[in-house]
Amino acid sequence: MALAALSDRDPIPCGEAEGLVWRRNRPVALAPLAGWFADAQDMAFAHPFARFPFDAEEWEELLTRPSPAFFYADKDGVPFAHFGLRPNDDAVHLCFLVMDPARRGEGLARPLVRLAAAAGRALLPGSERMTLNVSTGNLRAERLYLSLGFRRNGWAEEGMFQMERPLGLQPPWDRP
Ligand SMILES: CC(C)(COP(=O)(O)OP(=O)(O)OC[C@H]1O[C@@H](n2cnc3c(N)ncnc32)[C@H](O)[C@@H]1OP(=O)(O)O)[C@@H](O)C(=O)NCCC(=O)NCCS
Repeated sequence: MALAALSDRDPIPCGEAEGLVWRRNRPVALAPLAGWFADAQDMAFAHPFARFPFDAEEWEELLTRPSPAFFYADKDGVPFAHFGLRPNDDAVHLCFLVMDPARRGEGLARPLVRLAAAAGRALLPGSERMTLNVSTGNLRAERLYLSLGFRRNGWAEEGMFQMERPLGLQPPWDRP
């Protein structure tokens, strides 16, 4: 699949949606991502099995794997979020999403998820759904995804449930 086949030698894939830019995190840049985990709960919500504080070696290992592919999201040329995408049967799976704490609450979360979906459509054409896992108790994330048309569809790994929605433009990626 296109996403798994991306290598360091490929041109850096990037794209745009709603004035935001997604770009592959290759070569791997741990900064500014390393400074975006405000506390242990933040880390647990973004990466349930990672150590806190940020462990550069652990993340370097994760970010250099062939899959998921990792991306920075930029606004006005400044990175404000980071996420991973991987193929999941007929779906694009969104994972390890985190936003710069300084940029939270500005209304960027919904455009950010729509940007990740645009990246998924570009990199994995033909995928029908977007899936993601949410930790029980991450009410902010759950509410965010519900407002974008995601619905719960079962349990994932321990302490997490899965959500999904069509990857296409319908139903609209906005509040019902
Ligand atoms: C999840 C994340 C990307 C959302 O970005 P954000 O800018 O904080 O999101 P918003 O402020 O736009 O909030 C999204 C929605 O949740 C609501 N919300 C905010 N705080 C909330 C809280 N404590 N409880 C319930 N809902 C909350 C907001 O009101 C908003 O809904 P609304 O627009 O209908 O009011 C960001 O908080 C983050 O990086 N968190 C840490 C890592 C994480 O949880 N990743 C998600 C993994 S699935």
